[in-house]
Amino acid sequence: MSDLQSAGAPVLTIDGPSGAGKGTVSSRVARALGWNVLDSGAVYRTVSLAALQRGLSADDEGALVELCRDLRLAFRAGEEGIEVLLDDRPVGDALRAEQVGVMSSQVAAVPAVREALLDLQRSFQAAPGLVADGRDMGTVVFPDAEVKVFLDASVAERARRRYQQLKDKGQLKDKGEDVTFDRLFRDLEDRDRRDRERSVSPTIPADDAVVVDSTRMTLDEVVDRVEELVRQRLQPTG
Ligand code: DC
Repeated sequence: MSDLQSAGAPVLTIDGPSGAGKGTVSSRVARALGWNVLDSGAVYRTVSLAALQRGLSADDEGALVELCRDLRLAFRAGEEGIEVLLDDRPVGDALRAEQVGVMSSQVAAVPAVREALLDLQRSFQAAPGLVADGRDMGTVVFPDAEVKVFLDASVAERARRRYQQLKDKGQLKDKGEDVTFDRLFRDLEDRDRRDRERSVSPTIPADDAVVVDSTRMTLDEVVDRVEELVRQRLQPTG
């Protein structure tokens, strides 16, 4: 495929706060359309994991930028969500560790890191299309995307879903302590505030994004709604 063709491949961006279901929805829609998928949160998490392994701190700007240049990442739309491959191997749960999450929100606030990751993220735009999941996909990384969705849900509903997910996986303990609904609720509120108020690429809907509030919607309803938006934009009827 030539660069021209891949640059012309349509893009669907799905941005929104933590826990809104972006990963699951992106994966389901990408599978249905047969499109490629980008999990940009995993890009920041991978840089952070590598930084932690090398004992770097979030203000080692030069060393972090070096790490960004060496990343060999790939993504697959799996049944349960987006699968991440580093150097051709699945990364599994390592990216989900609490420490990696904390480091990634610090690393994601470094402008030089965000800049260094732009080309890598844009390189995933390839035929027949790309579903890009993140915070600034529609505002910064793919401002010309054909379809932009901002997937939101109330803090209480996102905390409830997260609690249920951890319960189903038998992971309601963190370092010996019980993970409570109240703690998840407070953590989400704090992360929302940090992500919305940071000066670089805050989590806000692009002017031309369609806001989908999934608080009272099932997963199937959200997927249907997003697929309908793609159809309307890419196969206009009359
Ligand atoms: O969605 P997530 O929890 O995997 O994201 C990990 C961190 O990366 C989170 O602190 C937000 C940040 N992030 C970002 O700043 N921009 C993106 N496009 C995606 C994630």
